[in-house]
Amino acid sequence: MTLQIRARLPQPLRAALRTAYRAATAPSDLVAVRELARAPNPDAARIADALRAVKKPLPGSEQARIDAIEQARTRMERRADPLVDGSLNVPPGYDVGVTVSQACSASKPLFAALLLYHLAKRFRPGTALELGTNVGISSAYIAAGLQGRERLTTLEVSPYRLRLAREVHARLGLANIGYRQGLFVETLGPALQEIGSPDLVFIDGHHQYEPTLAYFEAIWPHARPGALFIFDDIRWSQGMRRAWAKLREDERFALVVDVGVLGLCVGRAPGVSGRYQSRRMYSIVR
Ligand SMILES: C[S@@+](CC[C@H](N)C(=O)[O-])C[C@H]1O[C@@H](n2cnc3c(N)ncnc32)[C@H](O)[C@@H]1O
Repeated sequence: MTLQIRARLPQPLRAALRTAYRAATAPSDLVAVRELARAPNPDAARIADALRAVKKPLPGSEQARIDAIEQARTRMERRADPLVDGSLNVPPGYDVGVTVSQACSASKPLFAALLLYHLAKRFRPGTALELGTNVGISSAYIAAGLQGRERLTTLEVSPYRLRLAREVHARLGLANIGYRQGLFVETLGPALQEIGSPDLVFIDGHHQYEPTLAYFEAIWPHARPGALFIFDDIRWSQGMRRAWAKLREDERFALVVDVGVLGLCVGRAPGVSGRYQSRRMYSIVR
């Protein structure tokens, strides 16, 4: 019923209601972060710290790196040329009519991308894995948050999107990224064989109920105990809402944090008992 009423409202009114709702929930989001910081789980404070860091100024050199990624985003957003120029081998019909700008619009916006950066910095994953490179914005943020020998592997079906991502990363001087092109069902297994045990996993592609759960189940046996799983667009569709409803109750996770568009889940690790689920936070990464 609620859904039907919402669907009948004109778009501007829906947008205004959403903005008003988020403004009203913002103060309680701060309370939720404070509660999270005090939760009896060692990773809870790290996630709370990352959430707080999203809207704080960064030191100069870090800000310069973020600015460079945002400049790359802006350059792509301004490109009205077609993504597919025929120079690469893709099945006919794939991404036809899509401009570079349109492809880029599927990237995580600034605050969500910054959260990925801050999480990567705080979780210090030896190995990070991303499903859904697109044109390389979120992977740039994750890779920028890594240090030393830490590495990101990112998977993408579209060779054109992946080519752009590689160009963007090369210009940004990000050499800590490995790429696999193909459908996730083809590339996930070999990627896991190659990288071993991921400590941070970002699932941002093929946003449907069964695929989302299937990719998680395929990765879980390989993931390091205490790995951080980040599920994107958890409220994007009915299927994703169902997937999130199942994932957030999964007893294999010791910590579940709901950031509105993103669901953060930390796997159980030796020595960590209990389970903590945060309240829903809408205003932090919108
Ligand atoms: C939302 S975009 C990723 C955005 C990117 N993570 C960012 O924020 O910059 C999802 C990407 O996943 C890719 N994708 C979707 N389904 C896929 C599948 N089954 N196998 C491989 N790639 C897929 C799409 O081509 C698209 O580029």
